[in-house]
Amino acid sequence: MKKEEIVELLRKDMRGEHQAIIQYLYHAYAMGEGEIACEVEAIARDEMRHLDWLADAIMELGGEPTMERDEPDFSLGTVAENLQKNAELEQVAVEQYRVHIEAIDDPKIRRLLARILHDELAHKEQFLDLAKEAAEEAEAAAEGEGAVPAAPPERLVEILNQGIRHEYTVILQYLYHSFVAEDKELFEELQNTAINEMQHMGWLAEALASRGGKPEMSHTELFLSHDAQENLQADIAVEQEVTRDYTEQLGELDDEKLKKLIARIRDHEIYHDAVFKYLLEEVREEAKPGEEAPQEEEPQAEEPEEKSPPTIPTVGSLKE
Ligand SMILES: [Fe+2]
Ligand SMILES: [Fe+2]
Ligand SMILES: [Fe+2]
Repeated sequence: MKKEEIVELLRKDMRGEHQAIIQYLYHAYAMGEGEIACEVEAIARDEMRHLDWLADAIMELGGEPTMERDEPDFSLGTVAENLQKNAELEQVAVEQYRVHIEAIDDPKIRRLLARILHDELAHKEQFLDLAKEAAEEAEAAAEGEGAVPAAPPERLVEILNQGIRHEYTVILQYLYHSFVAEDKELFEELQNTAINEMQHMGWLAEALASRGGKPEMSHTELFLSHDAQENLQADIAVEQEVTRDYTEQLGELDDEKLKKLIARIRDHEIYHDAVFKYLLEEVREEAKPGEEAPQEEEPQAEEPEEKSPPTIPTVGSLKE
C-alpha cells in the first residue's frame, strides 16, 4: 500500500477520533459533575491520545494531519441513551480499525492501530456498563425529581458560547501546532496549553449546561502552518484577542460565580500569551545562526518589552 493511501486511512481515523472526543465531552458537560461524567471525560482523553498518535504517524509518513471531524451526534437523550449511543460509536470505530489493520501492510502502523482498537473495545464495554448504571440512577432519582432550570438569558448564552467557540478553536490550533513542531519544548508547551484550553471549554460548557443552555460545539477558522514562528505569532494574537473579549464580558456579567470563572480563564490566557512570547523568542534564537531563518525585521519594534523569559509555572499548577 502506498504511503499516501495509508495517510488517507489514518486521516479518516483522525476524523472519527475527533468526533468521539467532541461527542463524549458534550455528553459529559450536559451531565455536570459526577462520577459518570468523570469517566466519560476520561474516555474522551483516551481519544485525544489516539488523535495525537495518529497525527504523529501521519507526520512520520510525510502526510498532513487533519483537524476535521466526522459530525458528532448532538441530540441529547437521557444519560443512559447517550451512553448507549457512545457504545455504538465505539463499535463503528472498532470495525473501521479492523478494516484498516487488514488493509495496511506497514507493521508499525498496524501495531499502533491494534493498540487503539483494544482501547475502543474497552471503551465500548465501559459505555455499556455506564449506561446500565445511569439507567439505575435515573430510576432511583425519578421519585425526587427536581425542577428544570429556567432558560438562561440570551446574552449569557451568547457570551458562554462565544467562549466555547474560542476555546475549541485554540484546542485544535495548538494541537496541530504541536503535531508539526520540531522542537521538544515547543511541542510540550503547546500540548500543555491545549489541555488547559480543554479545561476552559469544559468549565464554560458546564456553566452553560447547568444554567439550562445548550453548548455549541463549533469552532472558528484555524491558523495552520508548518512554520513555528508564524504559528506562534498567530497564537499570541488569538490569546490577546480573547483576553480582551473576556475582559469586556466581565463588565457585562453580574453573576458573581460566572465572573470569577471568566476572570480565572482570562488570567490563564494572559499567561499563555507570555509563554508563547517566550517560545517565539526561543524559536527565533534557534533559527538565527543556521539557515532558513525568515529574516527578522526589527524584532524590537515588534516586541517592545525587553526579552525577559517569564519564569514559567507548570500547567499542572493551573489545574484544579
Ligand atoms: Fe479512539
Ligand atoms: Fe482558554
Ligand atoms: Fe489561551
